[in-house]
Amino acid sequence: MKNIKILNKNFYKPISCLTAYSPSIANILDGNIDLILVGDSLGSTLYGMKNTQGVTMDMMINHGAVVNKVIKKSLKVLDMPYKTYENKKDALKNAKILLNNCKPDLLKLEINKKKLEILKHLVSKKINIISHIGVTPQNYKNFNKIKILGKTNIERNNLLKLAKESERLGAKAILLECITADTAKLITKNISIPTIGIGASKYCDGQVLVFDDLINLSPNNKKPKFVKNYLNFNKIASYAVKKYNREVKLKKFPNLKFTYR
Ligand code: KIV
Repeated sequence: MKNIKILNKNFYKPISCLTAYSPSIANILDGNIDLILVGDSLGSTLYGMKNTQGVTMDMMINHGAVVNKVIKKSLKVLDMPYKTYENKKDALKNAKILLNNCKPDLLKLEINKKKLEILKHLVSKKINIISHIGVTPQNYKNFNKIKILGKTNIERNNLLKLAKESERLGAKAILLECITADTAKLITKNISIPTIGIGASKYCDGQVLVFDDLINLSPNNKKPKFVKNYLNFNKIASYAVKKYNREVKLKKFPNLKFTYR
């Protein structure tokens, strides 16, 4: 196993994670970020789906496999898509297919109380699992219905229990999505595996964002509060495209420099 000690709180420095669905992006991230996630967010981000429920094993295999080829330094994480881990038998069969084709260091599963036995089963087969709790997008047909969790005592306690159980059953890390800062702090303090947050405050042991959001690739998509644009790629790319278009129309491109003789 590669530098999985990055997921050990004793070794611990804050963990950085971004998504990549293609080799070119994975290449930019490799070695510059601790974890690279081939997330099923590719359904909405790349394929224009309304949610992640339409993401298939084939999609994850295709993107996971090409991304795997270029990653040499960072840890590789792959999402198990919707309905592929409903029972132990399917979960193991599909996990093995993903592991064989994409060679990730870890698989990420969206976990609720019922799914804990699946997590336990996969861990017993020596598969490294990240338990994704809090808002679990595979449960939403309509992302507009997503609400922040951990505001009430009941929600807070349920999430804490789920995190503790995930740890007890052998998860290597917990991904916390869209939960309040207090709840993220409570969970992070009370477990010994790292928490990686998305919309889950600075109190997590690490952070994850969708790469396309980081660079503002699709400015028309409604952005959640937790998204920070580190670059306005959309603006820069639009400028380049307009310039190219103008030069083609004016017959300025290609000039001699770009011409074979
Ligand atoms: O699928 C994904 O990209 C994710 C992140 C949003 C954490 O699960």
